[in-house]
Amino acid sequence: MTVEAVPLDSSQKRATLVLFEPVTGAAGSAAALPDGPRQGDMGDAQISRLKQQLVDAKERFLAAIEAQQTSREESQNTTEEALSANEELQSLNEELETAKEELQSTNEELITVNDEMQAKNALLAQARDFAMAIVETVRQPLLVLDNDLRIKMANRAFYRTFQSSSMEAEGQIVYSLSRGSWDLPGLRESLDGLLRGGRSFPDFEVEQDFPGVGRRSLVLGGCHINHHEMILLAVDDITDHKLAQQALRRSEEHLRQSQKMDAVGRLAGGIAHDFNNLLTAIIGYSDLLHDSVAGNEWAIEQVLEIKTAGERAASLTQQLLAFSRRQILQPKVLDLNAIVADFTKMLSRLVGERIEVSVNCAPGLWQVRADPAEIGRAIMNLWLNARDAMPQGGTLTVETANLTLAGTDVSVEDLSPGRYVTMAVHDTGVGIDAEMQAHIFEPFFTTKEAGKGTGLGLATVLGIVEQSGGVIRCESEPGRGTSFKIFLPAVGEALDKGASPAGSLGKAPRGSEVVLLVEDEDAVRKLARIILEASGYVVLDARNGREGLALCETHHGPIDLLVTDVMMPELGGRELAEGAIKLRPGLKVMFMSGHTEDTVLKEGVQKGTAFLQKPFTPARLAQKVRETLDSADKSAGQP
Ligand SMILES: Nc1ncnc2c1ncn2[C@@H]1O[C@H](COP(=O)(O)OP(=O)(O)OP(=O)(O)O)[C@@H](O)[C@H]1O
Ligand SMILES: [Mg+2]
Repeated sequence: MTVEAVPLDSSQKRATLVLFEPVTGAAGSAAALPDGPRQGDMGDAQISRLKQQLVDAKERFLAAIEAQQTSREESQNTTEEALSANEELQSLNEELETAKEELQSTNEELITVNDEMQAKNALLAQARDFAMAIVETVRQPLLVLDNDLRIKMANRAFYRTFQSSSMEAEGQIVYSLSRGSWDLPGLRESLDGLLRGGRSFPDFEVEQDFPGVGRRSLVLGGCHINHHEMILLAVDDITDHKLAQQALRRSEEHLRQSQKMDAVGRLAGGIAHDFNNLLTAIIGYSDLLHDSVAGNEWAIEQVLEIKTAGERAASLTQQLLAFSRRQILQPKVLDLNAIVADFTKMLSRLVGERIEVSVNCAPGLWQVRADPAEIGRAIMNLWLNARDAMPQGGTLTVETANLTLAGTDVSVEDLSPGRYVTMAVHDTGVGIDAEMQAHIFEPFFTTKEAGKGTGLGLATVLGIVEQSGGVIRCESEPGRGTSFKIFLPAVGEALDKGASPAGSLGKAPRGSEVVLLVEDEDAVRKLARIILEASGYVVLDARNGREGLALCETHHGPIDLLVTDVMMPELGGRELAEGAIKLRPGLKVMFMSGHTEDTVLKEGVQKGTAFLQKPFTPARLAQKVRETLDSADKSAGQP
């Protein structure tokens, strides 16, 4: 018998299959057979069948074992696969875990970033609100444009200043805003510069008319904002500032001018008193001399030269007083046409033959109240200037007219509504440019060569016109002639009887009354005494106020008229007159002076107090004395 041992589940080595098989032969078969009846054929068949069954069983068993082994191996494989899959799963899980952790941390980061973003957004919103608050609060008009130069927004100050609205402005091209007013000179070039890449453009000044707003002076500045996506246009409206500056400059100029006038006025006033006394003597004595040398042509000529020089000096002194408004005006209600007519006769000769004079006086001219001598002086200055402006000849036109200014009339600034009489002097001369026009009324401003002009002419005219309550205007263009126009307020009063022009003493009115003459300047007193006595009067004279007053007291007999100087040491003329009238009620008084600062007397003269301006001619003194004595109103001659 053979014994076969087969391990079962070799990997596990847990079991072994042992097979016992009888070896073919007697011994072998007997030993292998179980105890039982041994019967020949039947036994062999049975044995072989059993053997066969055993072989089959063995094969089946082996097959089963093999199948079991295979299945075990398969299951082992599956287990291994499962294990490896499990491992993969585990690693995947781990990866997933890591990814999850990463995701979580990313999420946390995102939350932080989000928080930061939110904080930043809040800050940005705050900054925007802050900026908007500033933009809306500033008083400077601001415009924000896009790169197509369309208006994105404007601030309140802009809409307020230019009387516009967001509806009207937003989306518009800036140049078409306010009916094209924003197409300003210089703005296009500046904005084009920005669009070509410039960061900003420098401030520049422009003037422009805006509908409903009027003329404005602006300073414009601009720059890119928002990373070159927008343009900020800052507009500074400096109109009021400029007007204030101009007003300040004007008032400074006025102050400077009046200080200058005051200084010259003081100087003029200072010398005028003494100067006019001397000139009275020079002019007066040359007049007397002229009368006494009748028939001697040579002597007459010399005397007239002295007199002319004296008169020119007197005129200059008077100019100084006039432009510094220190002269004593003796206004009368007068007809300007009559004065123009008088001066035309006198001045036509003066302007020469090359100049054609044309006088155009409006009929029915209203009356004005002014000092005829001063108005004459003004006319003369204008004529002389016109003559000097036309060295090659031309036309000088004088025109008078009535003018009514209504309340709405703004054609002549500084003039209140009312009735005016105008007198214009036109010439066809060289003209005056705008820059010079600003200076022509200044004292001592002249373009004439030394010795030809003092520069006092127009300053004097201005002084006279302003003191008469009027204004003067100049219109001129270089090469196109000049016009000066004087506006004097019209008055409704009756004309004053004009004094007849002074001639020689022989033709002057005479009298026989008693005249008390008080004058501290010997030369003038002596001259006045000669003139008055030559005119028939009885003359008492005194060298000062105190002496004069004493004479009023001590003189036996009547005194009809007191003729007194104003400025005298110890007792002035006005105080003397007051004292004399107390002593002799009804006494008439006539003052004479070259210059005085006595404002009471000045006001009195304006109202009609008898006054004779020094220097005077003999005829003028005789005439004024007669006039005062004949005046009906007793108080007329009193201060
Ligand atoms: N009609 C005019 N045409 C051109 N320029 C004028 C005219 N009137 C005045 N001017 C200018 O104004 C300046 C000042 O005139 P203004 O009469 O005050 O002084 P003046 O004539 O120079 O000297 P003065 O009058 O004292 O002799 C003149 O020098 C002249 O340049
Ligand atoms: Mg002049």
